[in-house]
Amino acid sequence: MNVLIISSSPRREGNSDLLCNEFMRGAQEAGHTVKKIFLKDKNINYCTGCSVCVNTKRCVQKDDMDEILDEMKLADAIVLASPIYFYTICGQLKTMIDRCCAGYTELTDKDFYLLLSGKN
Ligand SMILES: Cc1cc2nc3c(=O)[nH]c(=O)nc-3n(C[C@H](O)[C@H](O)[C@H](O)COP(=O)(O)O)c2cc1C
Repeated sequence: MNVLIISSSPRREGNSDLLCNEFMRGAQEAGHTVKKIFLKDKNINYCTGCSVCVNTKRCVQKDDMDEILDEMKLADAIVLASPIYFYTICGQLKTMIDRCCAGYTELTDKDFYLLLSGKN
């Protein structure tokens, strides 16, 4: 399987990023091909809700989200990792998920995993 891990904490090697690394190690040991994206390295603007992508399937904004969506489409399994911020996922991951508007209908038949780290 092609596994894509998206680590969204701003803290590299923080708690959720370490969970990503362990997930990656286990998946590689099991023979899977793994790619990890550290979201803080990427430039991702907010979705503006313009709805152009409903017809074009492409976002009018030109930033790193095109590349991330292409990677997501290629993956068989997608791992989303986030610290818990005020009882939910962090804003960085939510911003990325919102930008999936341009391609989420093609993200079918995939396994999704959610890795969360909290205070305790
Ligand atoms: C703005 C903010 C809000 C937080 N809210 C929560 C929360 O609601 N519940 C919780 O258990 N931890 C909360 N925490 C703690 C983090 O989730 C926790 O330290 C987490 O393990 C950090 O993950 P990271 O090292 O991957 O960034 C919060 C931390 C921050 C900075």
